[in-house]
Amino acid sequence: MRDWRDVLTVPRDAFVPSLVWVDDPRSDGFVAIAREKSESEWRALVDSDVPIVTQVDDGATTAEQVGLRPTSPCSQPSIVAAMLEALDVRPGHRVLEIGTGTGWNAALLAERVGERGKVTSIEIDPAVADHACQALGRTGHRVQVIVGDGTLGYSPGTPYDRIISTASVARIPRMWIQQTRPGGVIVTPWGTDFGDDALTRLTTRDDGSAVGRCGRNLTFMRVRSQRRDFVDPSEEELASAHVSSTERTARELFEMVEFTHAAFTIGLRVPHCYYTVEDVSTNRRHIELHDVRTRSWARVTMLRDHHPWRVQQFGPRRLWDEVDDAYRWWEGKGRPAAERYGITVEPDGTHKIWLDDPASPQQWVLPSSSAPRHTAPMIQRDDS
Ligand SMILES: C[S@@+](CC[C@H](N)C(=O)[O-])C[C@H]1O[C@@H](n2cnc3c(N)ncnc32)[C@H](O)[C@@H]1O
Repeated sequence: MRDWRDVLTVPRDAFVPSLVWVDDPRSDGFVAIAREKSESEWRALVDSDVPIVTQVDDGATTAEQVGLRPTSPCSQPSIVAAMLEALDVRPGHRVLEIGTGTGWNAALLAERVGERGKVTSIEIDPAVADHACQALGRTGHRVQVIVGDGTLGYSPGTPYDRIISTASVARIPRMWIQQTRPGGVIVTPWGTDFGDDALTRLTTRDDGSAVGRCGRNLTFMRVRSQRRDFVDPSEEELASAHVSSTERTARELFEMVEFTHAAFTIGLRVPHCYYTVEDVSTNRRHIELHDVRTRSWARVTMLRDHHPWRVQQFGPRRLWDEVDDAYRWWEGKGRPAAERYGITVEPDGTHKIWLDDPASPQQWVLPSSSAPRHTAPMIQRDDS
């Protein structure tokens, strides 16, 4: 892989807005920095290999307030480069980007497709799209910016040679596959509700399916309609929770929530499960598991010098038991990394996960978000 500086041929200072947002440890939120007032701080961010938050709370928070949730970042340069390399855009290609954001990646795509190609980019937020259009106009990059829901693709521009999403998805939208020519490529951060997503590269096939592999971890925001959420238990729910304990060690719990260890596999085995880790004090850590669909919740309380640790679970699913089983499966299968997984998306939208090879006996179907309530992964073929 080439150094990212050689891949990124357009400087991002022409695209990053003058108002950006940075982590504020005091408020545990995001505070605004204005270029006019803090040029050196703004410039340091733009020149660093870091993502830059350009909108919080879907634009509802003003510069004087504290933002809670980043909703439109300009992605980290080295990650942008890795995704462009995976996309393999050629001169003359027709490319669809989902998530225009600042317009920077769209400009990079426009440079690659050249005069004979075409870049269309969809952004759900009209104010964000407007900023991108203005920046692209100033730099002279020819990009068609559409305001809309990118999970539907953009049919007037079909067929595309390449689709790239710069917002992550839990389900690969069928429209993306239908709107890409057979043999075309889709690159997106893809994953489950459990932790980071994987850089996923799919190739579309004649029969309307797509097949591809997972790769390195990415921390992208989800497309708006697929955002993750957590359960906030009431006093009554906490009081009614089933209580047990776990002998798992701190190392094992760490591995459960780390992408480079078991987290990606656990997400594939335990659908619709979101985790949070909170250091409540210097000697108490809570790992919580949430399924908002079934209002199921679990907490492991890691209290220094109090091993084995207390486990509380309520709701129709026993989320801790499911995660513990999935960790055992991951260990039993030789601790596979995300790179060993692949995905086949069938023409009807079914997501089939496989380990190492599409014909592997280690494969199963991911339940869709509209699937009925379940207590375990829906295993299709699995010799475990
Ligand atoms: C990581 S940012 C994009 C970064 C951008 N490519 C750049 O170069 O600055 C993700 C963007 O996706 C947008 N987004 C979220 N859900 C979307 C959807 N369903 N359709 C289109 N855009 C969406 C967000 O508003 C946000 O601007």
